[in-house]
Amino acid sequence: MNIETSLQAMVKAAVAELYQLEAADAQLQIQKTKKEFEGDLTVVTFPFVKAARKAPEVIGDEIGNFLLAQHSLVSAFNVIKGFLNLTINTAYWMEVLNVLAADEQFGHNTTGKDKLMMIEYSSPNTNKPLHLGHVRNNLLGFSIAEIQKANGWEVVKTNIVNDRGIHICKSMLAWKLFGKGETPQSSGMKGDHLVGKYYVEFDKAYKAEIKALMEQNIPEEEAKRTVPLMRQAQEMLVAWEQHDPEVYQLWETMNGWVYEGFDATYKRMGVDFDKIYYESQTYLEGKSKVEEGLEKGVFYRREDGSVWADLRSDGLDEKLLLRADGTSVYMTQDIGTAKLRYEDYPISKMVYVVGNEQNYHFQVLALLLDKVGFEWGRDLVHFSYGMVELPEGKMKSREGTVVDADDLMTEMIDTARDTARELGKLDTATDEEVEQIASMVGLGALKYFILKVDPKKNMTFNPKESIDFNGNTGPFIQYTHARIKSVLRKAQEAGIQVPEAVDTSLTISEKEKYMIQLLSTYPAVVRQAGDEFSPAVIANYIYELVKEYNQFYHDFSILKEENEALKGFRLLMSSAVAKVIRSGMALLGITVPERM
Ligand code: ARG
Repeated sequence: MNIETSLQAMVKAAVAELYQLEAADAQLQIQKTKKEFEGDLTVVTFPFVKAARKAPEVIGDEIGNFLLAQHSLVSAFNVIKGFLNLTINTAYWMEVLNVLAADEQFGHNTTGKDKLMMIEYSSPNTNKPLHLGHVRNNLLGFSIAEIQKANGWEVVKTNIVNDRGIHICKSMLAWKLFGKGETPQSSGMKGDHLVGKYYVEFDKAYKAEIKALMEQNIPEEEAKRTVPLMRQAQEMLVAWEQHDPEVYQLWETMNGWVYEGFDATYKRMGVDFDKIYYESQTYLEGKSKVEEGLEKGVFYRREDGSVWADLRSDGLDEKLLLRADGTSVYMTQDIGTAKLRYEDYPISKMVYVVGNEQNYHFQVLALLLDKVGFEWGRDLVHFSYGMVELPEGKMKSREGTVVDADDLMTEMIDTARDTARELGKLDTATDEEVEQIASMVGLGALKYFILKVDPKKNMTFNPKESIDFNGNTGPFIQYTHARIKSVLRKAQEAGIQVPEAVDTSLTISEKEKYMIQLLSTYPAVVRQAGDEFSPAVIANYIYELVKEYNQFYHDFSILKEENEALKGFRLLMSSAVAKVIRSGMALLGITVPERM
């Protein structure tokens, strides 16, 4: 089915016959023909110059004639320097269209790899709500999981919730001291936002205490260390580790609020998990692996009782694994979490979707896992992505620093509703339809704008630009899908059948042939996105497809076409384009509307 591969085989046979050359794969280069030249696919002839001892132009001519004589696939050719431009028989493209139109799973590798990839993403702390950084993380994690599934992997989406530790105790302490029993019910606040509010309260009170101490001439360093609030938070952490009933209950209650809040955010964003791990249930595993390593002599204990790994011979630093008071650190729980995951699943590939500020952490983790005896440790993949910000001054949250994920989604959906109304797109829709479309378009805009960027790059999320109905945006693509669906509906209303297949002897234009060729590359695009872990590859392909389709739509008539066979062809091709748009957007976690 893949035409590049067939052409490679044909050229290989041609050069063997013509020049007695056993061509290697790297010598058989097939490219899409450049727009300014005639043809569909181009063979590069430079790699044969040495064996043929002829000029590249002559070689092009000879191979071209050979292919023309031997294969009905090629219907014409021209040579420009070392490039042999081949025109592929229209019947071939028509056959391609027939096959891909009939394939419901087109683009997906359904044979399967029979291998399991675990993808960790999101992984929040339970002391505050999700923010813009989590949004990028969640969208990337979800999309990559969908892309790998389409490439035949069995995927387990997982999340590690960092639900214990000093930062959690800070929110708990502030609530205990200043909360007056406030709950999500009593305040009408989402649970995660309520807990986040007390995290901020802690910080305020903490800073006030430091200031007070410094006014009594205590030096800043000492003030920070001895400030009563911080001491109380640390005591709370120790009490938690000892399962103090009161502290433990407060922890369960407040985390319960946070989970309710997170669930609502995930649901609205359209992301989910197959298995969630909690640090509170994995950190002890980590501790015992560290103790084991200590006995084996791969880690060492310092005089103050703290435990360390010396990674200097690996070109890294020394790394703290257990504090002097025996409490565990961020790294410790990751060792325990990894252990449990590998016990729970036959993992072939473990992927961590975590921001690039933690590059060093994962370099260290890989080495540590290896040292404690997990030979898979070194193979972990840290899918590292860049920062995301808003244009200056836009939608800063209450504290003025982070952009809240819930607020952002609300803002996007509101803007989508307003924009669609302004454009008169929702004039005949019911209230329910308006909400559905506003949510689809608002979130589609957000998701597409973030996912079309190379994950490694830092980026600015521009809400206004993202929702523009013209341009490389989610709404533009969604609108094109709805437009095709509307044509198909009109055909049906007029009693015109979309054929299941078309007559391959039909004559079509270059533009239409090109549309089929573009459609036919979708499976290769999905493969590339999987190999490179890049949703951006899908996004940019879909945009290209939509741009080309809109040109076609502008230049050709569909329902008004008088030739019935041609009308049937255009309907089938259009419905195939809609199918690929829907499929590609689904790999980005974006839904597309039937009407808009
Ligand atoms: N909760 C951590 C944070 O907010 C991220 C956890 C990333 N995943 C991991 N396995 N360490 O910084």
